[in-house]
Amino acid sequence: MCGIVGVVPSGVGGMDVAGFLLEALALQEYRGYDSAGIAVVDCDGGGVRRLAVSGRVAKLKEAARAGGFGGFGGGTVDAIAAGIGHTRWATHGAPTERNAHPILAGGGAAIVHNGIIENHDELRAELRGRGRRFRTQTDSEVIAHLFAEGLRAGGDSLRAMRSAAGKLRGAFAVAAIARGRGEIVCARRGSPLLVGEGEGTLFVSSDAPALGGAAKRVLHLADGDCALLRAGEKARIVSAGGRRAGRQWRQTGAARAAANLGGYRHFMKKEIAEQPQAAAAAMADFVGRTGGLRTGAFGGELLRAMRDCRSVNIVACGTSYHAAMTARYWVETLAGTPCRANVASEYRYRADPGAGGSLTVAVSQSGETADTIAAAAAAKEKGARLLAIVNESDSTLARDCGRALPMRAGMEVGVASTKAFTAQLTVLLLLALGIAKEKGTLSARVEKGIVASLRRLPELLRGSLLLEGVMRKWAGEIVSCHSGSLVIPAKAGIQTGGGGKGKAGLDSRFRGNDKVFNDGVLFIGRGGHYPLALEGALKLKEISYIHAEGCAAGELKHGTLALVDAHMPAVVLAPGGALAEKTAANAAEIAARGGRLYVLAAENCGARIAARKIARVDDGCEWISPIVFAPPLQLLAYYAAKIRGADIDKPRNLAKSVTVE
Ligand code: M6R
Repeated sequence: MCGIVGVVPSGVGGMDVAGFLLEALALQEYRGYDSAGIAVVDCDGGGVRRLAVSGRVAKLKEAARAGGFGGFGGGTVDAIAAGIGHTRWATHGAPTERNAHPILAGGGAAIVHNGIIENHDELRAELRGRGRRFRTQTDSEVIAHLFAEGLRAGGDSLRAMRSAAGKLRGAFAVAAIARGRGEIVCARRGSPLLVGEGEGTLFVSSDAPALGGAAKRVLHLADGDCALLRAGEKARIVSAGGRRAGRQWRQTGAARAAANLGGYRHFMKKEIAEQPQAAAAAMADFVGRTGGLRTGAFGGELLRAMRDCRSVNIVACGTSYHAAMTARYWVETLAGTPCRANVASEYRYRADPGAGGSLTVAVSQSGETADTIAAAAAAKEKGARLLAIVNESDSTLARDCGRALPMRAGMEVGVASTKAFTAQLTVLLLLALGIAKEKGTLSARVEKGIVASLRRLPELLRGSLLLEGVMRKWAGEIVSCHSGSLVIPAKAGIQTGGGGKGKAGLDSRFRGNDKVFNDGVLFIGRGGHYPLALEGALKLKEISYIHAEGCAAGELKHGTLALVDAHMPAVVLAPGGALAEKTAANAAEIAARGGRLYVLAAENCGARIAARKIARVDDGCEWISPIVFAPPLQLLAYYAAKIRGADIDKPRNLAKSVTVE
């Protein structure tokens, strides 16, 4: 999603400001965006210059190089007093050069904005009434005009920004520059923003990695804060109440290693392959070479919350929500404690009378997902104790929850979450075990068995990754049946285009070859593998753009079975255990209607499933089975997307870090 970066160099002319901004934007590309831009204030009372493109940062760099912007790419580096940059993920207005940030307003002001301004229509009308002219279709432009009006009224930047921020409804992180001022002023409410400092240079950013290690220390602005960053001075922070505020600086660790493909063509593939190490890292503190679960690693305070909670309430989005759904089976079965998995965007607006007395667990790879952050805050207001499970330990969610269990999966770059998913599952299983142990519902025998299986998890994941070749083949077949070779039955009464290109009255996909597409792939599973069916479908949709649907196998006959015909591929998740025969019966219902079965079965699944395509995996035991089943589904999606030539790491319309509601 949108990303902000800004810099006020310590000395005039000493820094390649444009070059820094462009590199910083490249470092935050992983967040997902569709246009990018920078704006700078020239020294000696100079004006504001802006450069923006629709498309990638590489294109922006090219434009900067071609135009000699700021001296980027050779020549003398321009003397620049301050600069801001932005990667935009379009919400209001198409991803055009004109709608890209920074957005200019009369009077030589420029702003960058993350978030959504809910009252922008109202403000736009008021501003128009005062003679302001709008250039963009964005909600953000109102901020630029309000800020510029504040400056024109003779206020200093801080006052102008505070006054603008006071008129906004919705979520925002905003940074602004203005002609003749060697400073950046910024503000936030409901969207993260941090200030950095390194050798006298001041920075602002929505995300620490964008600073690439240039800041030696950073502070996270609190909700409602405004900050003024001026050359040669300390950052000045003012709280929502208008008082000077001291926020805690944290030393930054070594700069996070720049994301590196390490010989792979795509980050997604690399991250799929890293799952054995990621799972080992996730459990390292809890599972030793011998013995049972090391509960000490949870820490005394969390252990008390685990023991005392009346219920477990999990909030998450997307893939993290699927991990939460799986955890529900674990917590309820092992700890005998009621557990709910909630889609965070819905939970935040629900009454939830059960929140008080619960341990509310917010699960998020990035720790910056706006809906998950808001859902955790809503639960806290109702009296819940919070715990975050995050991959990014220094994230807003981890800070807001006050307690966090790290996934330790290592940086995930591909928009499709893979190693973070299996690491989340691993941590959630450890948590379920911990709660069960604290509540006294876990027998020594069961504990020993599950912990022994967890020890084998990295090896089992390596085994399931060996299904790569089979998944590539299955992907080929699924893609070919999606891209159509299926004759429309005459009795269906569908008119075809009869070979004529451009004939009206028929969907263009049906024209010219009398063929129809099969629009979907079904994934089915039961128990802990039902969420995995949803995850398999999400992964396929997300990166290959083939429609897919996950379904609880027993629920098929209540509607979805109507989709099944001889052209419908159905991926069946078939672990062993008590539900194996039931799943086999549901697979038979599909086969009986001609559906094409692709069965991923546990080695110990004894149920007879009559299918041409069966791949077997050693899944250890029923408890860790959903974790071991995940990589083949990720590989299936990966190869489907690859065969279709999709942009695997940056699927269209999606972002890695979903920081708007
Ligand atoms: O960072 P989070 O785990 O909070 O992100 C939640 C979802 O946006 C994320 O899992 C999304 O569904 C993935 N792109 C799926 O691969």
